[in-house]
Amino acid sequence: MKLSFELNGKPATLEIEQRESLAEVLRGRCRLTGVKISCEAQVCGSCTVLVDGLPVSACTLLAYEVRGKRVTTIEGLAEESGRLHPLQQAFLDHFSFQCGYCTPGMILAAKALLDDNSVATDAEIVAHMNGNLCRCTGYLPILKAIRQAANEMRDEK
Ligand code: FES
Ligand code: FES
Repeated sequence: MKLSFELNGKPATLEIEQRESLAEVLRGRCRLTGVKISCEAQVCGSCTVLVDGLPVSACTLLAYEVRGKRVTTIEGLAEESGRLHPLQQAFLDHFSFQCGYCTPGMILAAKALLDDNSVATDAEIVAHMNGNLCRCTGYLPILKAIRQAANEMRDEK
């Protein structure tokens, strides 16, 4: 079947199988390997992408369900000039990853929060990030990075 949607700000049309998940299509057909697949059961958050600005688990969403919608992956976050999104820069600044497997999903989940609420408290950040698991870094550097990005995003407004 044919799937038309917006991918990282550009129109995209692909031939897909009806049974394919969004994660499979983004990784396999679009070569966007920043979308990480781990549990495949909507538990770990590593496959998080944004659909119309909201975080979703791409491992359990059938790709055809995003027809006509806006999909953002980690590859779509930096500016065309190469300037990183404040969240990407903050994760680097605070050493908020080790293996990095959870990082794209973490950053996209955090972006959804800060786009909606740039004055989120630590408790709100922790509650929002509850569905994104990291098995090697520890969560404090991740929280610090999200806090820094929130401050910068507010200043840029
Ligand atoms: S791979 Fe999708 S939530 Fe874990
Ligand atoms: S940095 Fe390794 S799982 Fe989070």
